[in-house]
Amino acid sequence: MNPSYALQAEDVAIHYGGVKALDGVSLTLEPGQIRGLIGPNGAGKSTVIDAITGRRRLTRGTVHLKGQDVSALGATERRQRGLSRSFQRTSVFSQMPVRKQVELASHKMGVADSHADADAVLRELELLDLADITADELGYGEQRRLDLALALVGRPGVLLLDEPMAGLSVKESHDLARHLKALTSRWEVSVLLVEHDMDVVFGISDAVTVFELGRVIASGEPAAVRANPRVREAYLGSAA
Ligand SMILES: Nc1ncnc2c1ncn2[C@@H]1O[C@H](COP(=O)(O)OP(=O)(O)OP(=O)(O)O)[C@@H](O)[C@H]1O
Ligand SMILES: [Mg+2]
Repeated sequence: MNPSYALQAEDVAIHYGGVKALDGVSLTLEPGQIRGLIGPNGAGKSTVIDAITGRRRLTRGTVHLKGQDVSALGATERRQRGLSRSFQRTSVFSQMPVRKQVELASHKMGVADSHADADAVLRELELLDLADITADELGYGEQRRLDLALALVGRPGVLLLDEPMAGLSVKESHDLARHLKALTSRWEVSVLLVEHDMDVVFGISDAVTVFELGRVIASGEPAAVRANPRVREAYLGSAA
């Protein structure tokens, strides 16, 4: 496996009985790269995140982080090695102050100075001014940013995001996209971005992969993927 990749998933399959949720998927993330992952409902986008992070047992295939095989490791061990994720639904605690939540997550990760870690994350995401209020006092866009903050404690090298813009206004989406872009350059984080908002995906991704029925049907530079006839037929439809 190629150690120059931050992440390399090779021939990953997950079968639920007869259902092939993933059927031999390969994808890579270069350091600091954003790869958009799109595909119709049920294509396997959330499942590939579960597979890569160790939440689901692989039927077949391997996952490498910076050239190291992590396929046999559990989700917690992979997180310790810098593989982080957000969930399709928010994991914020509504009654707890923002800073406290981020510190707690950092502490749970075993970060020695969780106060400093939380501070750095909150500053990076422009949440410092809101650090002392509880999450339920945040706007929805800020709550999604807090989700991202929780995924960033311990400074992971790889971030897998499952529809982080879901439910956000256009302005909030672009705001979050701007933060993601800044993160990849300032913190050298690689991002796999599962997202339905095509403007966001094609706007900020360095590469785009398209799933259909548990397989990769296209992968490459955003412009080439957008122009791919199979993608237009299978997914983008006449809207493309
Ligand atoms: N625990 C499970 N048991 C059986 N089948 C499952 C399970 N989880 C997911 N599947 C199936 O695996 C396939 C992929 O689902 P997945 O949730 O990964 O799709 P997705 O691309 O994330 O869709 P969406 O855009 O709706 O979030 C679907 O056919 C789904 O029904
Ligand atoms: Mg999903």
